[in-house]
Amino acid sequence: MLDIAIDGPSGAGKSTVSRAAAAELGVIYVDTGALYRAVGVAALRRGLDTKDREGVAAILPEITITLGFVEGEQHVYLDGEDVSKAIRLPEASMAASDVSAVPAVRAFLFDLQRTLAKENDCIMDGRDIGTVVLPDAGLKIFLTASAEERARRRFLELEQRGTPVDFDTLLQEIIQRDYQDSHREIAPLRPADDAVIVDTTGVPFDEVVARVVALAHEAMAKLRAAEILEENEAYGEDTDA
Ligand code: DC
Repeated sequence: MLDIAIDGPSGAGKSTVSRAAAAELGVIYVDTGALYRAVGVAALRRGLDTKDREGVAAILPEITITLGFVEGEQHVYLDGEDVSKAIRLPEASMAASDVSAVPAVRAFLFDLQRTLAKENDCIMDGRDIGTVVLPDAGLKIFLTASAEERARRRFLELEQRGTPVDFDTLLQEIIQRDYQDSHREIAPLRPADDAVIVDTTGVPFDEVVARVVALAHEAMAKLRAAEILEENEAYGEDTDA
């Protein structure tokens, strides 16, 4: 069973790269940011200040978040309602970053993530997958790119969607979110000690996907070799006896 953890800052291309690599490898893709976004949406819908940690923690017993896969595509449900679109609204991004700093929120979403990885071969992306959620993942990748490059990609994406925004505002938001995500006390964004760092600045998308797929094949071969060694040792113990 191979679990692949892909962490990195927002806009590094984690979701597009993970989705494409997962399709190529025949495993499911789990986007954990969607879970934090769903908690953010729940808080916003209740009119809460998303920086109010106690207020946010207090709503957790009242909400249910689940993930489903429709034709291989992840959908996130808040109290049974499909909020996959609502979580992509701009206000949900900062709300998600705010609520993700609340320890109770991280604990609330931990089991869901662990169970998904246990039950499926998957690529799971987020901020703390290699460091906290799946410390034993067979492969850990830290996908990154310069803040300017990430802002540029997001700018083009929003422009194509017909919702243009000011580039400098976008860049400042990215820098602020990076800072917030990597300086929180709990599960800050950082590469795991054994993560492979993949910098995507100036690297074409297809090349990044090919690199991730190649790393996955290497990791699978290593896992298989370790399994064979274990089987041989067990066999040796049996025949020695
Ligand atoms: O990947 P994303 O932009 O959809 O994530 C939204 C926010 O959730 C982001 O600011 C950081 C947070 N997050 C987290 O703290 N841990 C994760 N595993 C995934 C996301």
